Amino acid sequence: MSEILQHREDGILTLTFNRLDKKNAITAAMYNALADAMFAAAEDDAVRVVVLQGHEQVFTAGNDLADFLKNPPDMSKADAEPAPVVRFLEALRTFPKPLLAAVAGPAVGIGTTLLLHCDLVYAADNAAFSLPFVNLGLCPEAGASLLLPALVGYPRAAEKLMLGEPFYAEEAVEMGLVNRLLPPGEVNAYAQAQAAKLAAKPMASLTATKALMKKGQVGLQQIMGDELKLFGALLRGPAAKEAISAVMEKRKPDFSKC
Ligand code: COA
Repeated sequence: MSEILQHREDGILTLTFNRLDKKNAITAAMYNALADAMFAAAEDDAVRVVVLQGHEQVFTAGNDLADFLKNPPDMSKADAEPAPVVRFLEALRTFPKPLLAAVAGPAVGIGTTLLLHCDLVYAADNAAFSLPFVNLGLCPEAGASLLLPALVGYPRAAEKLMLGEPFYAEEAVEMGLVNRLLPPGEVNAYAQAQAAKLAAKPMASLTATKALMKKGQVGLQQIMGDELKLFGALLRGPAAKEAISAVMEKRKPDFSKC
């Protein structure tokens, strides 16, 4: 069965992470499936709204760590032959129609940063968000270094991005990352109901509203490019190799030489 499920109904395209045995960690093939679906949805008049969701116990554990070690994305070819993750980030940044997320359980790394590109985010009270990039010897991606300080203020963004400690559902609502909390068994259905309301509205007004609000994100494309260059270089460095190996071997990393 596909690791990204696609369901289309009444103008809503729902994309579901479906790799539960690996906590919905995202592989290159999954990034390509997400990007293909979103680029196609952007052009398809029959799709009016897209919803991203996971399972009641986990949204996504973020990038597949084994992929990071075995098959690190080459960010230097971002323009000519973009890596699957770069295609997905571009699909997120440019998606012109309403994009919703329903989050339950852990949302790690890109599982949290992708939310910064969503128009509405609903979370279950078991949701746990984390941005462990520094702890993995990496730096932020998906424009989080611009979008997160803009959303929550610099000091709180620095706390989340530099310490990389998880934060939970109530704080995520209070800081403006999440619109509303629901029980884990209800979050996907609630997001669908909100998506249905949007799908019934005039598309040209919705897309104009989104485009106008996004105009304020000046410099986003530039910073996403800068992030990817640094991320790609750090991913090949000694700290990332040590940190990612340590997570996979379930031990503490040793950064004494990094
Ligand atoms: N990449 C690859 N595999 C992953 C993964 C990831 N990002 N996250 C979890 N997995 C795998 C585990 O290796 C384990 O596989 P195994 O059963 O073959 O040993 C399986 O998923 C279950 O993970 P586990 O850690 O036992 O689940 P948990 O419920 O205790 O914890 C998380 C869930 C998401 C909190 C935890 O798995 C985690 O922190 N993962 C790493 C997240 C991360 O650093 N992502 C990168 C962000 S840039």
